Amino acid sequence: MSELSAPLLRIRELNKSYGDLHVLKNVALDVNAGEVVSIIGASGSGKSTFLRCLNVMEMPQSGFMNFENFAFDFREGARAQPTSEQLRLLRASIGMVFQSYNLWPHMTVLENVVEAPLRVRKLARKQAIDEAEALLNRVGLYEKRLQYPARLSGGQQQRVAIARALAMKPQLMLFDEVTSALDPELVGEVLSLMASLAEEGMTMLLATHEIAFARDVSSRVLFFDQRVMAEDGPPGQVLRLELGRRIPGRVGENVAGQIFKRHRAILYLVYSRHAGADPSVCGVFRFPADRDPPVAVCRRRRGAGA
Ligand SMILES: Nc1ncnc2c1ncn2[C@@H]1O[C@H](COP(=O)(O)OP(=O)(O)O)[C@@H](O)[C@H]1O
Ligand SMILES: [Mg+2]
Repeated sequence: MSELSAPLLRIRELNKSYGDLHVLKNVALDVNAGEVVSIIGASGSGKSTFLRCLNVMEMPQSGFMNFENFAFDFREGARAQPTSEQLRLLRASIGMVFQSYNLWPHMTVLENVVEAPLRVRKLARKQAIDEAEALLNRVGLYEKRLQYPARLSGGQQQRVAIARALAMKPQLMLFDEVTSALDPELVGEVLSLMASLAEEGMTMLLATHEIAFARDVSSRVLFFDQRVMAEDGPPGQVLRLELGRRIPGRVGENVAGQIFKRHRAILYLVYSRHAGADPSVCGVFRFPADRDPPVAVCRRRRGAGA
């Protein structure tokens, strides 16, 4: 894509509050077709809210959004406020996958995938089934097409959820921590599916705690902090900036981290920094309280999970 062409998605001055809680403050973002943008940041920093604003599952209080042929002005009373018909069309071209896969339990895998193409894209049943079977083949689950979701592992259900979103032929895919609820041994199959979609040129925005994945697969990383977008840049740059700032010298020279407020403790993904090379994730440490020494909670090797 040339630098002169318009981005696929353009957001300006986006604001979203819940009551007194100002979750998103003047967020701006351009995403070009084919880009993979990872959003990292502590729990509560607004990652999910931001993704939900993009397909207007949450209505922002103000802001401007351009996506494909849509141009929305979210200010109250604005003439370009989205209509319900526009929202229906918008949501048909933005696919979203959540942490909880939300498959319809009373439908087979195949029925889950053909449902929206039949109802929303108004495909003929034969074509919807052909496309769904091709997608299930694509995510490695063709053999499971006549099973009910409860018979599948979490990783398989999540891959079905991805196939179901892809069945709408979206121009943009949003992934909200899609591996967070999975057992560790199932994370890799979902991440490698997402990496292959990225390789095929799918435009993707994903909130993730998988830093190795963010670093290795994304074209850019956004860091949300204190409810503003604190950084936006190439993976190495954003991760490195965050490194120096958060725990200078805390666990030794080779170490710096990324914070996640999970399990009521702060988790730092810890990188080693050798001779200016890109940081490599070497472990996850927990700081039980601010001044206590860190406790290793798990270790990963470089590239693990990607
Ligand atoms: N529907 C809601 N009503 C009220 N507060 C909400 C709602 N959704 C999210 N929040 C609050 O907004 C903040 C950002 O939440 P969220 O976007 O889920 O963050 P993240 O995905 O980064 O963990 C949190 O403080 C959360 O409690
Ligand atoms: Mg979230």
